[in-house]
Amino acid sequence: MDPIGNPYTPNAGSRPPELAGRESEIKQFEVLVGRLKRGATEQSIIVRGLRGVGKTVLLNAFEDQAESEGFLTFYHELTPDTNLVDELARDAERALDRLSLGARLSGRIRGALGHLKTITLTGPEGFGLAVDLQSADEGTITADLTDLLLQLGAAARENGTGIAIFLDELQFVEEVQYRALISALHRATQKELPITVAAAALPQIPLLTGEARSYAERLFDFPTIENLDEPAAAMALVEPARRQGVKYSPDALAKALEWTAGYPFYIQQLGKHAWNLATESPITVDDVERAMPAAQTALDKSIYEVRVQRATEGERRYMRAMAELGPGPYRSGQVAEKAGQSVTQASPTRQQLMTKGLIYATEDFGYVDFTVPRFAEFMRRYMPYQAPD
Ligand SMILES: Nc1ncnc2c1ncn2[C@@H]1O[C@H](COP(=O)(O)OP(=O)(O)O)[C@@H](O)[C@H]1O
Ligand SMILES: [Mg+2]
Repeated sequence: MDPIGNPYTPNAGSRPPELAGRESEIKQFEVLVGRLKRGATEQSIIVRGLRGVGKTVLLNAFEDQAESEGFLTFYHELTPDTNLVDELARDAERALDRLSLGARLSGRIRGALGHLKTITLTGPEGFGLAVDLQSADEGTITADLTDLLLQLGAAARENGTGIAIFLDELQFVEEVQYRALISALHRATQKELPITVAAAALPQIPLLTGEARSYAERLFDFPTIENLDEPAAAMALVEPARRQGVKYSPDALAKALEWTAGYPFYIQQLGKHAWNLATESPITVDDVERAMPAAQTALDKSIYEVRVQRATEGERRYMRAMAELGPGPYRSGQVAEKAGQSVTQASPTRQQLMTKGLIYATEDFGYVDFTVPRFAEFMRRYMPYQAPD
């Protein structure tokens, strides 16, 4: 069928025409925004999940929701180099601009922020901002960030609006800054200000301790999103086509559901190829079967190979040893044994793979798993296993 009309979206962060199976998270965020507007408080959300399960598109849906309620929104995708305080200070600068506060209020806020030690807002026109975190201790950073959020929240409230900040890839946040953010937000929430942060992260977001941890647990719900269950997977596949008058035969749908196992990336990629190969509606089981190898090649290229290429020889051998053990999670000791190493010998490799975001330590102590679903299958396709001699 016409590739120009192809409705599927097999790319990271691209909004699918049918955002299937995430109704409860979206509802939860709607309630949060609604309550903030009324001056009430509510837990915000940090969505956790593996690569490709749909965290980014969900966070984007949250942003749309906040915007449709008239909130000012800011969105950041973090990297290992992101300086979060710097980003938030820029947001503040922009918010003060966009809130059209009038000279007096704007002047007052700038005045109130004038004493900050780590952040200087020098507007009002455009950006003028200096952040100096090098010499600052954690207490100063926290105090400054707190003042920043309090002033912003108060300004938004006076303007009858709210502010929502979205942080994707939160696992990259620097821990001191994460703690500072949590404390600042805690304070803003105590003051019932209409300002919130929602985020998405791989399963291992930095563990906080002490006070910051108990604040975080009060401020956020941490839902884990996973592959789509079967009804949602069916919706994700069938609905985009249906809107263009195209159906799937029942056995085509069954085959597609089996092959994709609810993984959103697989659904979008298979849907795309089946659509392009089919000549008419309904899409048949034959179309789906012919689409599978092409979809697999595209998936290997777009999600797996780019990741395995970031790994060294030794790291690949470690991941191949994991894959040899079947589906995860994997006990570190067993992986080391499969790789023909002692736990101590394997430990730096394991650590490097975690730093590169290819594997993560699961909640059970001593276990690791891949951050991308079906990576083990890929490793078995990608290279042979060499048993230690
Ligand atoms: N709920 C969903 N229904 C259908 N497709 C989805 C859904 N969530 C994500 N996708 C698709 O899955 C892929 C990965 O989504 P993305 O948000 O980038 O995942 P993540 O941020 O978790 O790595 C994209 O191609 C997207 O269009
Ligand atoms: Mg993402």
